[in-house]
Amino acid sequence: MSQNAVLHLPGDQIIELPVLSGSENEKAVDISKLRSKTGYITMDPGYGNTGSCESSITFLDGEKGILRYRGIPIEQLASQASFVEVAYLIIYGKLPNQTELDAFTGKLNHHALLHEDMKHFFSSFSGQAHPMAILSAMVASLSGYYPEESATDGTGAFDANAARLISKIRTLAAFSYKKSVGQPFIYPKDDLSYCANFMRMMFAVPATDYEPDPVVVDALNLLLILHADHEQNCSTATVRTVASSHASLFASVAAGILALWGPLHGGANQKVIEMLEMIRADGGNIGKFIDMAKDKDSGFRIMGFGHRVYKNFDPRATVIKKACDNVLTKLGVQDPILDLAKQLEEIALSDDYFVERKLYPNVDFYSGIIYRAIGIPVNMFTVMFALGRLPGWIGQWKELMDDPTHRITRPRQIYQGQTEVDYVPIDKRA
Ligand code: CMC
Repeated sequence: MSQNAVLHLPGDQIIELPVLSGSENEKAVDISKLRSKTGYITMDPGYGNTGSCESSITFLDGEKGILRYRGIPIEQLASQASFVEVAYLIIYGKLPNQTELDAFTGKLNHHALLHEDMKHFFSSFSGQAHPMAILSAMVASLSGYYPEESATDGTGAFDANAARLISKIRTLAAFSYKKSVGQPFIYPKDDLSYCANFMRMMFAVPATDYEPDPVVVDALNLLLILHADHEQNCSTATVRTVASSHASLFASVAAGILALWGPLHGGANQKVIEMLEMIRADGGNIGKFIDMAKDKDSGFRIMGFGHRVYKNFDPRATVIKKACDNVLTKLGVQDPILDLAKQLEEIALSDDYFVERKLYPNVDFYSGIIYRAIGIPVNMFTVMFALGRLPGWIGQWKELMDDPTHRITRPRQIYQGQTEVDYVPIDKRA
């Protein structure tokens, strides 16, 4: 039975607003007619209470620590699926059968190479350029090479551009690393899995054979799956916002990459390791840093802690923490940072400040320890996040484009500035 919410406004205005219900019983008050009927808008800086769309891609329940892609729990996907299958699931709405998976993999292989001209771009970046700066610029540049629209009308245009992005982003990421260490680019190889191919492009050199270690490949597969989508987070909301102006898939995703880069979002994975290194270099006095995080004047936060939505635990962090122990043991790596991270978590979780604010380790807290163990340089961590999040951005871009009711994103504001004043000629100004 449909219900209405009743809003009483000053001046005895009363308006009934429709209530929407999601398939997991989430509730929303539809305020889309509020302004036209009453002159009021709603205020929600940071959009903590604002639904910007209806979506059938990802469900998460922050109180219960649930995350599902297309209904499938993240834990099942993490333990059983391949990243390519998950990408297909997120973008096309169902797990692929063998024929569909083979066709999708074939498309990824077909599009793995970069246009040879694009290689020249890498030499134009400064040696100090952050890989996220390079990646975002290169993804935006893809629009110049593939200017055709990504129409989702079944003509295959979207499928081709989606496959291009998923495949080429891996090549772009590996090439940017190769450039930074002054080694020759290693081209993709069709007979390798998505993750094995990436590791080979990163770490092979022409002088020797390179066999991707299955432990490393599995670890990467796991991390990419856990990052693949997270409903309306900052970068995904950015992709949707840019797409709502009918910008291209490449332009929208490039914007998403830049939003991800910030340290409060995907950039946190790099900052976590830098923070743990700093604590270690400082003698490992965790209490000192906990106190700093509690002091608002310090400007310091425990990176990898807290989440807008998860108020109990982040299920991705639970899986990654367990994987950390497994991967490091299997690789025979001992990382003192892992012990430090565990101690920091324990101390924070028993501290009233963190308990009261429901601050728990998030996906970024332990992921960097695995990336480090498998040889990924710290400044590439957020690039790895981007590789993982790409299917989500693409799936959300498609969902928006397929929705005939979507409108350009254009929030309102409450103006608090100067009321009307006259222009003062320069010789009359104080
Ligand atoms: N360390 C210390 N205090 C914190 C932290 C933290 N990491 N996170 C939040 N708080 C405090 C914050 O100061 C505020 O305190 P008070 O109520 O006294 O003013 C309270 O907790 C609520 O924080 P908020 O900033 O209003 O929460 P938010 O939902 O706007 O921000 C967040 C969420 C993830 C940006 C934030 O928790 C944070 O900055 N965490 C550190 C950065 C990080 O790990 N980011 C990765 C997020 S998960 C992956 C992703 O999205 O990419």
